Amino acid sequence: MQGYLDRISKLVGQVHLYRMDDNNQLVPLFERSKDWDYMKPDFVTNGAPPRRYVLMRRTDEVSSWRMVEFPGCCAFCISTGVYVNTAFRKRGVNRIANELRQWIAREFGYTALICTDVETNIPERKTLQANGWKDVLRVTNRRTQRVVNLSVKEL
Ligand SMILES: CC(C)(COP(=O)(O)OP(=O)(O)OC[C@H]1O[C@@H](n2cnc3c(N)ncnc32)[C@H](O)[C@@H]1OP(=O)(O)O)[C@@H](O)C(=O)NCCC(=O)NCCS
Repeated sequence: MQGYLDRISKLVGQVHLYRMDDNNQLVPLFERSKDWDYMKPDFVTNGAPPRRYVLMRRTDEVSSWRMVEFPGCCAFCISTGVYVNTAFRKRGVNRIANELRQWIAREFGYTALICTDVETNIPERKTLQANGWKDVLRVTNRRTQRVVNLSVKEL
């Protein structure tokens, strides 16, 4: 995990990874920490609750996302709510954070990651392409009329 954080740190300054706990408090995540081991069984066996991850540079939020187990199938994890703060965009943060999300999902025992994005979201489309995601379905959302891709990355 630290390798990904080091690469992002080179782009924006020293970053640290946190998770949001049930009281909306940020809890630092360290590789091989007790915290990490504590999260794993819950994440894998209990139908993982939504977990929000936040990358911080000191007090600045650089990026955040959520990872949620696919309801009913513990092979899949859904990556959603991906956001890079405007001040830190276009520097390659998301490209590396996407790799980090894959690492986290693998670490928690998932076999594949799933996400959706709208066709017009060029930076996200490029991120997925660069990280070897496969677009499995392209539909027009009948609620919004927007074209949406469903993409998968086997881990
Ligand atoms: C999508 C988002 C996460 C991208 O974050 P980012 O850190 O700026 O992305 P990166 O810097 O890693 O860029 C990834 C690729 O997109 C390109 N890119 C970034 N911003 C771009 C823009 N505005 N227009 C065109 N290309 C863009 C980069 O050049 C890079 O491609 P390259 O490696 O071929 O040069 C960020 O724009 C964001 O938070 N948007 C709002 C929320 C959102 O759309 N989330 C995704 C929901 S599915």
